[in-house]
Amino acid sequence: MKRVLSGMRPTGNLHLGHLVGALDNWVKLQNEYECFFMVADWHALMSEYENPAKLPEYAINNVVDWLSVGIDPKKSVLFIQSEVNAHLDLYLVFSCLVPLGWLERCPTYKEQLREITSRNLNTYGFLGYPVLQAADILLYKADKVPVGEDQLPHLELTREICRRFNTLYKRKVFCEPQAILTKVPRLLGIDGRKMSKSYNNTINLCDSQEEIKKKISRMITDTKRIRLSDKGHPDLCNVFSYYSVFLPEMKTEVYDWCQQAKLGCTDCKKRLASGLIEKLFPIQKRRQELLKDKAQIKKILKAGRDKAISVANQTLKEAKEAMGILRLDI
Ligand code: TRP
Ligand code: SF4
Repeated sequence: MKRVLSGMRPTGNLHLGHLVGALDNWVKLQNEYECFFMVADWHALMSEYENPAKLPEYAINNVVDWLSVGIDPKKSVLFIQSEVNAHLDLYLVFSCLVPLGWLERCPTYKEQLREITSRNLNTYGFLGYPVLQAADILLYKADKVPVGEDQLPHLELTREICRRFNTLYKRKVFCEPQAILTKVPRLLGIDGRKMSKSYNNTINLCDSQEEIKKKISRMITDTKRIRLSDKGHPDLCNVFSYYSVFLPEMKTEVYDWCQQAKLGCTDCKKRLASGLIEKLFPIQKRRQELLKDKAQIKKILKAGRDKAISVANQTLKEAKEAMGILRLDI
């Protein structure tokens, strides 16, 4: 079986954007690939280093969310990045051979330095963010990496680092990974901007039914539709896009009602809220069950860690051998 590796930074609660943008896909991949799913807590630290207190809580909560949507620890390896030391070893090796220019030119780096003003990201570590990501991926010799489009430059860098290592040390220790670009419906936040914790416009997997209702009632609809008797433009309405993604069975009906002004926006949102609550119910129920037994979550993560360590250490050994680094245990 070919191997998949992916990761998420534990910087907050998971929301519907994560569900349709990544998790639904991860769940499917489990049946075709040997999957490694990682909580990228070192990567989170690179932006949250001034205030890391909540990272452990987010890490566990994220894993609970993964499990509740159907990530199956019997099929996939779930682990915490910082529990597997080899990531840092390989990160250091790669940082020796990555030219500064590759990192300084990286579009995600430039963009985030420019746009994220709430934190000081002008650090040595943040520049090296994609180097650590390359170590994550290459340590497991992953064939495929499911990521969003924004991560493609990091994947390209990973392949470049892979080639540079193999060429320098004349041994094919690492293999070039391919991206699995998740074809996902773009789900906007309740304010119509990209769904993101930093915009405070998310609907979270752990939100209560009341919160979901409240958030949906605040959603911006077709701004051209002012009176109930005005005909709506569902294609321009964010509420309608939620129907498309989560309640496709109601899509045609709502489209017609809206266009013919047979349904008011308040009503339309109420129906969306109850439909969404119903769809999320099994996930939230599993979530509650899982949270009753945190020891079990830790057990899953320890088993995942042990499996990850055995794969990662083997690769690290091969890399050291290729470079001719002294190892006392041989
Ligand atoms: N950088 C990724 C993100 O922000 C998270 C990540 C860390 C990752 N290591 C990875 C994703 C390895 C894929 C593979 O989404
Ligand atoms: Fe949007 Fe529904 Fe209002 Fe139409 S009726 S504009 S789809 S909220």
